Amino acid sequence: MNETTTQETAAATALEQARERLIVAMDVPDAHQAMELVSRLAGTCQWLKVGLELYVAAGPRMVTALAEQGYNVFLDLKLHDIPNTVGSTARTAAVLGAKMLTLHAGGGPAMLTAAREALAGVGDAPQLLAVTVLTSMDAAQLKAVGVDRAPADQVMELARMGKACGINGFVCSPQEVAALRTLTGAEGVLVIPGIRPVGAAVGDQKRVATPADAIRQGASYLVVGRPITQAANPAEAAEAVLNEMATAL
Ligand code: C5P
Repeated sequence: MNETTTQETAAATALEQARERLIVAMDVPDAHQAMELVSRLAGTCQWLKVGLELYVAAGPRMVTALAEQGYNVFLDLKLHDIPNTVGSTARTAAVLGAKMLTLHAGGGPAMLTAAREALAGVGDAPQLLAVTVLTSMDAAQLKAVGVDRAPADQVMELARMGKACGINGFVCSPQEVAALRTLTGAEGVLVIPGIRPVGAAVGDQKRVATPADAIRQGASYLVVGRPITQAANPAEAAEAVLNEMATAL
């Protein structure tokens, strides 16, 4: 193989790896708009995130419909309830075909352990992802709920607790990914929102990173919403994000 061909092959491989690691956040208000977005994305991505808004509007049928179309579905319900309820819900999410499921680390060790145990032995169980401190919480918000630590310290405290319960997947901001990667090791699954391609509007996100930076710092998956979903051409915007990710792979 000559040098140009080798470089082209490496670039194509990096792009395919990027495609496996991009999650598009389907933050739309109903099933019709979700399906329209899916058709406009036209196979550019393999992962779609169904969050509370779409789940409340369209229900579990949304998860099964996307899974039937061959997508990996990240069900972002951020569960926080008694251990028994969270455990049963995790099992139901597995039956629906969700491949990732979020729960709040703040639910405590009994809740996290119940979720993990509920999925033990379930074939094709979703990857559990613990949400540590929401990016909307600053020091003042934490203090108001009785936490006197800095947000970054609270993130690490909750992540250590999650890991001790056997949960090695986390959602975190680009600022925390490097520290969490040190905690989880290579096998940890770190899912990172707050991604903004070079030149994109930041919107309401505060702690942002570019796709390439987030990958370099140790992200396993990137969650991207508005820069793709609100673009005039979502498929083109997704390809641009994938190309940025690929430069870091
Ligand atoms: O549109 P944008 O790219 O900001 O969307 C980011 C997605 O990631 C949204 O669905 C949002 O709910 C989610 N998310 C986040 N910050 C967190 C956890 C989830 O922005 N800490």
